[in-house]
Amino acid sequence: MTVKTLTLDGKPVSAREDETILDLCREHKVPLPTLCHLEGLGAVGACRLCLVEVKGSPRLHPACTLRAEEGMEITTGSDRLKRYRRQIVELLFAERNHVCAICVVNGRCELQDVAYAVGLDHVRYQYRHPPTELDASHPRFMLDQGRCVLCTRCVRVCDELEGAHTWDVAGRGAASRVITDLNQPWGKSESCTSCGKCVQVCPTGALFEKIQPAGGTVKRRDFLTYLKTAREKKQWIR
Ligand code: SF4
Ligand code: SF4
Ligand code: FES
Repeated sequence: MTVKTLTLDGKPVSAREDETILDLCREHKVPLPTLCHLEGLGAVGACRLCLVEVKGSPRLHPACTLRAEEGMEITTGSDRLKRYRRQIVELLFAERNHVCAICVVNGRCELQDVAYAVGLDHVRYQYRHPPTELDASHPRFMLDQGRCVLCTRCVRVCDELEGAHTWDVAGRGAASRVITDLNQPWGKSESCTSCGKCVQVCPTGALFEKIQPAGGTVKRRDFLTYLKTAREKKQWIR
């Protein structure tokens, strides 16, 4: 396998040809916030939180989909990047109904974690608080559209690992919504196997189990790597 040499925040590093800049950052303990990315799922570069600068390129690039190339010079923490990341998180909070105090994942939410990481202490934009739907038709799970950040983790895990492809995204722009089957209530879905993978990978309180433990919902996201290795390499290791 070819090895690439490049610089990461001014430090020389080497990478395998199949590595992404996000893989490299994780390997070298460079903190980079992510939301749509989850180890074990295909990368889509949807949330734009992991943006980095590449010397010689005027635009910003999502590290989760950017392959390491020979001679690249990557910057991960410039003032411009910090400003954009904070703005992205602010817009996510302003777009729907994130009232953490009454959320089932308060204290265990990846959006909250990212907000802390980018230093968010207030939102400069007007909250839109759009009317959103709550789908309680499934016997075991709930969908609260007001907490959805459209990361598509549920769509990908259902398609890539469960093979059911129950979830999809309908609509455009601010009107985009995750839907089940052909936009029927989740409880009526014929493709859903009730495996719960989508609930476990959802970074926020958008998908959760109806029966809550006393301390709220705790999601188990590490099971993905286990499942993927089991299927691809026939090794049942964690
Ligand atoms: S999903 Fe996260 S950010 Fe949104 S209300 Fe719940 S705890 Fe807050
Ligand atoms: S329901 Fe959860 S996993 Fe699915 S797109 Fe919304 S936030 Fe992401
Ligand atoms: S984690 Fe890279 S764009 Fe979302």
